[in-house]
Amino acid sequence: MEVVIVPDAAAGGELIAEAMAALLRRKPDALLGVATGSTPLPIYEALATKVRSAAVDASRARICQLDEYVGLPYGHPESYRSVVLREVVEPLGLSESSFMGPDGTTDDVAAACVAYDRALAEAGGVDLQLLGIGTDGHIGFNEPCSSLASRTRIKTLTEQTRQDNARFFDSPDEVPHHVITQGIGTILEARHLVLLATGASKAEAVALAVEGPLSALVPASALQLHPHATVVVDEAAASRL
Ligand code: GLP
Repeated sequence: MEVVIVPDAAAGGELIAEAMAALLRRKPDALLGVATGSTPLPIYEALATKVRSAAVDASRARICQLDEYVGLPYGHPESYRSVVLREVVEPLGLSESSFMGPDGTTDDVAAACVAYDRALAEAGGVDLQLLGIGTDGHIGFNEPCSSLASRTRIKTLTEQTRQDNARFFDSPDEVPHHVITQGIGTILEARHLVLLATGASKAEAVALAVEGPLSALVPASALQLHPHATVVVDEAAASRL
């Protein structure tokens, strides 16, 4: 695992956006797995700036989702589908046809999970998967104690994660209890994993993931198993390393 310490979130965003641009120069139709939350926004802004200035051509890029809330209606502004379309797909000038994600609106969630894993494989697998990290060490929505071999499936959010994500909703009660997430085993199949963590609130989780033992109690420690994992942290998030 490669750990890169950058001065701040903007520098982390620029570094990772350049890695994504380099990938697209080598493989124009690369499948880019994107994460939600506040942390990756500087990456998406930096990549969109490169596209607008013609530093990279992203017109053939393909985008896929890491996870999704269950039960938010189609078009809800905080469904991860809406977030990824708004923050990534549209700013890169892509259409919805270049985007794939699990269906969080279906009555048959189990079938949607199996279908999404199959769709990722049929698309040739994820070339670069962006990840954030929860304060409890989760990746995607794989909460502590998730199997390190897990596939895409339904999970129940911890109260900590619901509280952490309540800022995106009008009231904390509106945060769904259930989610679909790529499993840890699914995530580990991406060719390159890139985790960005910024801010002091992530320092403990980062230290456990990077320097602690491999453990299902800290899902992000699964990156230790991956042959090509890059962890980018600002100085605050690196403060416990
Ligand atoms: C959610 C997402 C994760 C993300 C995490 C951290 O739980 N499912 O993919 O990493 O939030 O979000 P933030 O970057 O806003 O701290």
